[in-house]
Amino acid sequence: MDTNHRPDEMVRITTPELAKEFIDEQITAIKAQVGDGKVLLALSGGVDSSVVAALLIKAIGKQLVCVHVNHGLLRKGEPEQVIKVFRDEMDANLIYVDATDRFLDLLAGVTDPEQKRHIIGEEFIKVFAEEAGKLEGIHFLAQGTIYPDILESEAGIKAHHNVGGLPAELDFELVEPVKLLYKDEVRVVGKELGLPDNMVYRQPFPGPGLGVRCPGAITRDRLEAVRESDAILREEFAKNGLEGKVWQYFTVVPDFKSTGIKNGKRTFDWPVIIRAINTTDVVEVSVEHLEPALIDHLVKRITTEVPGVNRVLFDYTPKPPATVEYE
Ligand code: XMP
Repeated sequence: MDTNHRPDEMVRITTPELAKEFIDEQITAIKAQVGDGKVLLALSGGVDSSVVAALLIKAIGKQLVCVHVNHGLLRKGEPEQVIKVFRDEMDANLIYVDATDRFLDLLAGVTDPEQKRHIIGEEFIKVFAEEAGKLEGIHFLAQGTIYPDILESEAGIKAHHNVGGLPAELDFELVEPVKLLYKDEVRVVGKELGLPDNMVYRQPFPGPGLGVRCPGAITRDRLEAVRESDAILREEFAKNGLEGKVWQYFTVVPDFKSTGIKNGKRTFDWPVIIRAINTTDVVEVSVEHLEPALIDHLVKRITTEVPGVNRVLFDYTPKPPATVEYE
């Protein structure tokens, strides 16, 4: 039997009852596969790895070791939330690695987008492999592979085992409990497992994180401006009922400055670009047009609260011709 094929008769998980049934089945399957063995998981805090973590914690508790690598390019509050939800509330075995300096030092002065992506991916594998090397008796690696990953991988669009890059030499047996589920089903299962809404309904976030929203060479101060403005945007979208309604929204801080005025004095600071888009397949993307009052409020908050910023711009370009991310 092809275990990577979703059976035609498999019912779409749309209700808490169906999610509960799936969770019970998977707990039995995970226990049967793993026995008393230990399982390692790279927990990014994204929907898929979070749901896999919650499922495995329910099934095997402390036999699961989660590793959360903070590459310094995560959104505001994300590492803290991973620690709160998994270590404090679910009592998971969680290793938190703050590798911010390693990543930002390597990225200093690097302007080429592909090189930036490459450095982030490579370093992620290194940090993860180092942590795995410190542990003993691990035979299994859990992954948040979902069904679209398998379909895209089979169609030659992308390799699905590229979730941060699986170090092949570590030679683990894979545990992939949600690999036959679509994203909407993973969310229903996550909700049933008790994960918070802002984790379950999280918008897509690129692996290289805020690094691709800080175009050109990343500096710590400009990265902070991206992080702070992104946090304000997310807060305002949530307050205005747009969270979970608009597909993706974020800020970019380009590497140029312009003249402004604050308290009667000349400023020379960065602009923040706001991008909010809707799509079904991310191949074609349309722009979300915001209410004028919300635009005014965002401009006011960002220019007063984010250090080093004196201007806010809106990107109203669909895809094509523009991609979603700037790099
Ligand atoms: P683009 O910029 O290609 O983005 O129009 C399409 C969607 O993919 C996300 N994206 C990424 N996701 N690693 C990821 O995991 C990446 O390197 C990456 N680049 C773009 C982007 O956020 C959008 O949802």
